[in-house]
Amino acid sequence: MKLRSRITGTGSYAPKKVLTNYDLEKMVDTTDEWITERTGIKERRIASDSEAASDLAVQASKKALESAGIRPRKIDMIVTATVSGDMPVPSTASFVQSKLGARNAAAFDLNAACSGFLYGLAVADSFIKAGMFKTILLIGAEVLSRFTDWEDRSTCILFGDAAGAVIVEATEVDRGIMSTHLYSNGSMWDLLYLPGGGSKHPASKESIDNRVHYIKMKGNETFKVAVRTLEKLVVETLKANKMKPSDLSLLIPHQANLRIIQATAKRLKLPMDRVVVNLDKYGNTSAASIPMALDGAVRTGRLRKNDYVLLEAFGGGLTWASVLMKW
Ligand code: ACO
Repeated sequence: MKLRSRITGTGSYAPKKVLTNYDLEKMVDTTDEWITERTGIKERRIASDSEAASDLAVQASKKALESAGIRPRKIDMIVTATVSGDMPVPSTASFVQSKLGARNAAAFDLNAACSGFLYGLAVADSFIKAGMFKTILLIGAEVLSRFTDWEDRSTCILFGDAAGAVIVEATEVDRGIMSTHLYSNGSMWDLLYLPGGGSKHPASKESIDNRVHYIKMKGNETFKVAVRTLEKLVVETLKANKMKPSDLSLLIPHQANLRIIQATAKRLKLPMDRVVVNLDKYGNTSAASIPMALDGAVRTGRLRKNDYVLLEAFGGGLTWASVLMKW
């Protein structure tokens, strides 16, 4: 029997503090109407001063462990997809490993921006298929509010803080991850980036004065590339599995912009009731958005045994990725 990997537990966590579009109207020159029309976002969550990415990640992970019925000691590897980890060193996954008491787990972070969770699923799937590990905790966790320029109306309306986690286990049943598709184009890195704090622009008085420690985005260009790329990606993914769009029970897209999501659904001729959307409540939470949406779909009974579900994401790098699963 062929070894496969399957998600056996999901969990998510969003900080308590809600920041609405009306709150943003008081901070920058924008309106609820503009944000709703252009993005679909109504509100987002903001981490408290005492919460870092690993704190959100641990909350989501505990729920994923509970739903899979697994103790932390059984975890072989922890991967945290994030661009807003606690510190550059150690990895956020190391903090999670310690806070959960997952003493048998390897731990590292993965940066593929908004595609990070799907890159992580491909990594988990590969480790399992190679026979190296049996139980993997994969997390997407972001505290983007700390890297958001609250004076820049073109970006500060978009992002939010959250975490989602899944347990990926080795299985011999005919369900689970069917295929993973990963892509990148680094020549378009400057559509979405955070220049400060790395080895190119280390922190200095000048870097702070120049506001380089915040996310920069060419929104409109990113939007156009995202729509084109994702339309092609979902068609390719189905073709690779000899499937039709109508075979899909659910599409779980990265939650960047409702108009991008609608364009992908239209390309697949999928009605919106088969598309998971939660960006109205959480905004764009980068690597956390897909596991959050997945957990919501599982807990509300939208995803059932043997359903085919397509996950897709596009983000900084540029990176883009998709995963097809039989639930
Ligand atoms: N309120 C009011 N007006 C605004 C705001 C705002 N918050 N922000 C920008 N505007 C103005 C602009 O200044 C511009 O005005 P001008 O015409 O006078 O110059 C006008 O609105 C149009 O701006 P655009 O940037 O062209 O607006 P667009 O329709 O493209 O929407 C948005 C912007 C929402 C950012 C959209 O481009 C988008 O969602 N882009 C893709 C985001 C994405 O997918 N990112 C990748 C994933 S994220 C990740 O990896 C972390």
